[in-house]
Amino acid sequence: MRSNRRGMAVAAALISVLACAPADGPAFPADARPGAPGIGDADFPTDGNGGYDVSHYDLTVDYTPATKRLDGVTTIRAAATQDLSSFNLDLAGLDVSDVTVDGSPAKFAHKGDELTVTPTTAIGDMSRFTVKVTYSGVPTPARDRANLGSYGFMATADGAFVASEPDGAKTWFPGNDHPSDKATFDFTITVPAGVTALANGEQVGQPTTDGGRTTFRWRERHPMATYLATATLGRFELRQGRTPGGVVNLAAVDPAFKNALDKLYQTSAEVTDYWSTVFGPYPFSSTGGVVDNYAAGYALETQTKPIYGGFDPDATIIAHELAHQWFGDSLTISRWKDLWLNEGFATYAEWLWSEHKGAKTADAIFDDYHSRPADDPMWSYPPGQARPHDLFNHSVYVRGAMTLHALRKAVGDETFFRLIRTWAAAHRYGNVTTEQFVDLAQQLSGRDLRPLFDAWLFQPRRPA
Ligand code: TRP
Ligand code: ZN
Repeated sequence: MRSNRRGMAVAAALISVLACAPADGPAFPADARPGAPGIGDADFPTDGNGGYDVSHYDLTVDYTPATKRLDGVTTIRAAATQDLSSFNLDLAGLDVSDVTVDGSPAKFAHKGDELTVTPTTAIGDMSRFTVKVTYSGVPTPARDRANLGSYGFMATADGAFVASEPDGAKTWFPGNDHPSDKATFDFTITVPAGVTALANGEQVGQPTTDGGRTTFRWRERHPMATYLATATLGRFELRQGRTPGGVVNLAAVDPAFKNALDKLYQTSAEVTDYWSTVFGPYPFSSTGGVVDNYAAGYALETQTKPIYGGFDPDATIIAHELAHQWFGDSLTISRWKDLWLNEGFATYAEWLWSEHKGAKTADAIFDDYHSRPADDPMWSYPPGQARPHDLFNHSVYVRGAMTLHALRKAVGDETFFRLIRTWAAAHRYGNVTTEQFVDLAQQLSGRDLRPLFDAWLFQPRRPA
């Protein structure tokens, strides 16, 4: 789903219906050409793909911790955005055994992280199609990029810790692995009996066990970026219910962290309800979190269910990951260089949480950072331009948050919090850019804020 294109697509569909109205088959098969191998993010040229737009992923995953083998079937519903002779999916490692398009066998070639699919007949622009990929193998996590170590599908002693930001979804399922193409997800996950599968959204029905293997079904019915999809597997203790504000809440912890369960459950509830008063209604149909016994040392804001890797999360990091449900998950960046729209907002949320709890105010935290000397590395890294090989730089988080505080001081609390709520409401479930945020800030404040954003986001020096 690429929301910014929907209007255009509808208009173009009408025109093509009126102009040529083919009963079936592609409108202009002669013009059919391959979809691009990348979606157009200049910093990540082969991430995502051109020529189509995914609306839904149906992931079937069978995983055995003892062998680390994954058997998968991914069924993708998509619509062409050009006449397509072939198109690509992103998939890293793993062996593809079969591909069909609309039920007919298709040719495929898997080179590097690109799976090229050539259907027997071209796909016409605007046509909906279904591609089904059968694959298997031992997933290999991705490295580099994030300077956070590994990401993607990571085997653990009893299952897997699945955290794919920025482009590790392709380590476990084929897809359009870029945040600008969000889609809904269904998960059918089969694991040895005794292992629990935790994916995004809510469980569909009860797990079923047959021949010593249990199948779990989960559904995320709100659009989701591929990097936010998870299928975290292992032994877990669960606590379920609702927040006082009425949001379905599910906490899960590895038995090694069983003492963390109640606090995870309660703090996630309290934070979800509090952010709902600050940022506007919670965007999804459940909240919660998962603590796995895997020493990732970091957390990811996996939609509806942040995952915490190998530590008992405190309220600050829970506040951060749950703020991402609004900023990152509901509102998703269109290109990675705008990552401060995720991390700056989630870090600022930590400061707001501190202020809310009567600890340090956001203003005091801002002042501490602002007093760092001019040669602190934060000042030479402009957070509005996250760098592909150092995306998650401290500056993107902290100077990103400082940008919001500088904005708050400039426009005042009333306008600032109205802006944040309007931002979250106007782009709910969509994709966003920095320019859109700056435009909205100017509109709501009636002020020229370009110098402020320029100094905080784009200059390689300490703002005054
Ligand atoms: N977005 C995460 C956070 O700030 C950090 C992160 C980036 C991450 N890439 C990751 C976490 C990969 C897990 C896996 O909360
Ligand atoms: Zn974050």
